[in-house]
Amino acid sequence: MKVIAKERIAENLTKLVIESPLIAKKALPGQFVVLMAAKVGERVPLTIVDADRQKQTITIIFQEVGYTTRLLGTLKPNDSLYSLVGPLGKPTPIKNYGRVIVLGGGVGIAELLPLVRALKGAGCTITSILGGRTAELVILRDQVKEFSDDMYITTDDGSLGEKGVVTDPLKRLLDESSDYGLVFCVGPVPMMKAVSEVTRLFKIKIVVCLNPIMVDGTGMCGCCRVTVGGETKFTCVDGPDFDGYEVDFDELMARQKRFVQHEKQAMCKLDKQINNEASWERNDDG
Ligand code: FES
Repeated sequence: MKVIAKERIAENLTKLVIESPLIAKKALPGQFVVLMAAKVGERVPLTIVDADRQKQTITIIFQEVGYTTRLLGTLKPNDSLYSLVGPLGKPTPIKNYGRVIVLGGGVGIAELLPLVRALKGAGCTITSILGGRTAELVILRDQVKEFSDDMYITTDDGSLGEKGVVTDPLKRLLDESSDYGLVFCVGPVPMMKAVSEVTRLFKIKIVVCLNPIMVDGTGMCGCCRVTVGGETKFTCVDGPDFDGYEVDFDELMARQKRFVQHEKQAMCKLDKQINNEASWERNDDG
């Protein structure tokens, strides 16, 4: 569980390559790991972006938005994670679906990459639509492009591609032709909800990849529950992929906000800790 390499790929977005022979050997597209950066802290679910069986490593990409992901971002090569469990979740079924549209938003683009690679390998014709607030946040676009037959980019501020949101090119594409075997979407929950609503109009199958709060990652705590087709499902064992028409996105969004206050308190504590360490280091230098 040693960190082999670390790269800052955009503002607050970090890539870690981690030594993990067993997970690298078994991981399939769509699966994730649950990790702990330190003994005290949350367990964070993160998609396996790449698994290199020869080098016995896995790659994860995360956004430093909360206490644990910021802590994770302080790790350096040769540091060790406190714990790492995986591969978890059901792999995404990979086959030739014919023409496929894949949509990724923000850090969700990292989760899209292994899928695009696998779908291309299965013979699909792939149109990718990537979106982000700014150009910098449309990550891994060259890598996704490598496996795409066509690509569209949208940014909120128009700094790259067209100014707007991913549903703009999606609507145009579906207006031109509805001959698509699958739409796959991963990104912020409001984006997945909007994309599912558009595909519903055109009666095209949509799969969304959910990323709710998780604890054990093995179906025991109930923390990751979502309502799908009126039934309670556990994302960690029943997902993370679900039929986008069936997911209760409003409930999921409400659940995502439950720990906002706790998160703010934890972040204050971490900021103090980091500032104290920095002042100790300054004193040592002095
Ligand atoms: S994370 Fe505990 S049941 Fe899914």
